[in-house]
Amino acid sequence: MVTRVATVAFEGIEARAVDVQVQVTPGGVAFLLVGLPDKAVAESRERVRAALIASGLALPAKRITVNLAPADLPKEGSHYDLPIALAVMAAIGAIPADALAGYTVLGELALDGSITAVAGVLPTAIAAYGRGQGLICPAASGPEAAWAAADMDILAPRSLIQLANHFKGTQVMARPEPAVARQAGPLPDLADIKGQESARRVLEIAAAGGHNLLMNGPPGAGKSMLASRLPSILPPLTPRELLEVSMVLSVAGHLADGALTDRRPFRAPHHSASMAALVGGGFQAKPGEVSLAHHGVLFLDELPEFQAQALDALRQPMETGDVLISRANHRAVYPARFQLVAAMNPCRCGKATEPGFACRRQMNERCMAQYQSRISGPMLDRIDITIDVPAVTASDLILPAASEGSAQVAARVARARRLQTARFEALGLGHVTTNAACRRRCWMRSHGPTMRASRCCAMRPRPCA
Ligand SMILES: Nc1ncnc2c1ncn2[C@@H]1O[C@H](COP(=O)(O)OP(=O)(O)O)[C@@H](O)[C@H]1O
Ligand SMILES: [Mg+2]
Repeated sequence: MVTRVATVAFEGIEARAVDVQVQVTPGGVAFLLVGLPDKAVAESRERVRAALIASGLALPAKRITVNLAPADLPKEGSHYDLPIALAVMAAIGAIPADALAGYTVLGELALDGSITAVAGVLPTAIAAYGRGQGLICPAASGPEAAWAAADMDILAPRSLIQLANHFKGTQVMARPEPAVARQAGPLPDLADIKGQESARRVLEIAAAGGHNLLMNGPPGAGKSMLASRLPSILPPLTPRELLEVSMVLSVAGHLADGALTDRRPFRAPHHSASMAALVGGGFQAKPGEVSLAHHGVLFLDELPEFQAQALDALRQPMETGDVLISRANHRAVYPARFQLVAAMNPCRCGKATEPGFACRRQMNERCMAQYQSRISGPMLDRIDITIDVPAVTASDLILPAASEGSAQVAARVARARRLQTARFEALGLGHVTTNAACRRRCWMRSHGPTMRASRCCAMRPRPCA
C-alpha cells in the first residue's frame, strides 16, 4: 500500500503541489528517496530516521521507498523532512493513515524529533487554502501561516510526538495566532538634516511619485543620510502590497518569528554585491535584493563602484517589475517593483567639485566624465530624477534643527499618492498607483488629448507595457 502526504515545491513565490508517496515492502532493508531531490532533500533520510528513533519509533527492517511526485520537478530545501516523516509514520501505523488527508505539510526535523522553522510557509498556506486544505507547519512558522485565512485549519507542532498526540486526541493543539512584527524603534527622521532644502524637496517628490532618484555630490554631503530617511516619509504598505512583500520575504526566509510588518522594505546592498545577490538566483534559487525591495526602496550607495554587469541586470526588473530566473531545469519569476535610490561621488576621489581642487591625474572634467561613464546610458535613462547634492557648509551645520520633520512630509506624500491612485482609477488604470509606474500610454491618457505625442514621449521616454 502507498501512503500519500501533500507538500509543495517553490517556483518563485508560487507553491506548486508535490505528493510524497511512501511504500513499505518486504525485502532488503533500505530507505530510498527518489523524485529529483537536491542535496538537502537527499539528506532528509538521515534526519527523518534519527527524528523517528528519538520519538520512540524504530523504522521497520523493510524496504522503504519515498517518491516525490511529479518526478520531473526539482525539489530543493529542507521542508520535505516533515511530510516524509509523517508519510512513513502513517505507513507503519504510528498515526492514523486518514489523519493527514486534508493537510499540506512542510517543516524541517532536528535529530531529536523537534520541528524547526522553514522558509515559504506563507505562500504554502495561501496555496493550501486555495486547494481547500489545512496546513501542518513548524510551531515557529505558525504565526506566519495564520495570516493566510482566519478559518483555515492550521496545526503548528513543536515535535513529532506533539503531533502524534494531537492525532491520538491526548494533547489537542490550539490554532496559532497571526503575529505583527514589533517595530525596532522609530525610523531616522528628516528633521536631523540641516540645510539641503532642494535635496529634501526632491526626496519628497521622489517619494510622492515613486520615482527613481540619483544623488550626485561630494563625500559627506549627506547623500546616505538623505536616502536613509526616505522610508520615514513613504506611506505604509496597502494590505495587498503587504501580502506580496511578505510572500517574497517568506520564500527568502526573512520573516523573523513569522511576524508581518507594514513598513516598506529598504534594502541597501554593499557595492561588492554579485549579480545573483542583486537580481536573485544562484545555486539555490532565492529572491535577490531587487525582490526583497519589492514595493519599497533599493538604495545603491556608491553606484559607480557596483559591477557593471550587476547594474545592467537591474534594467529588466526596473522595466517590467519582476525578474525571471532561468536555469537549466526550471524557471522562477520573482516580483521586483522597487524604487531605486542611488548615490555617487562626482569622481573617484570625490573632490572634483570642490572649489580650487585640481586633479593630479587629469583635468577635473575628464576625471568626472570617466567616473560617471561607469554607469551605462540605458541605466541612467531609467532614473527619473538626478540631483546634485552640494557639500554641506559649516554655517548649515550650526543651524537649529529643521522645523519640519518626517511626519509632516509623510502627510503630504500620502495625499499626493491618494491623488495619483484616484486619477489612475478614474482612467481605468487601477493597476497603476504612482506616476513612476505610469508608462507613455497612461501618461497620454492622464494628460488628455491636448498633449502632442512627441512632447509626451519626450517626457516619458519609456515604452508602454
Ligand atoms: N545636511 C546635514 N545635516 C546634518 N548632518 C549632516 C548633513 N550632511 C552630512 N551630515 C553629517 O555628515 C555625515 C556623513 O554624511 P553622509 O550621509 O554619509 O554623506 P555622503 O553619503 O554624502 O558621503 C552624516 O552622518 C552626518 O553626521
Ligand atoms: Mg554615503
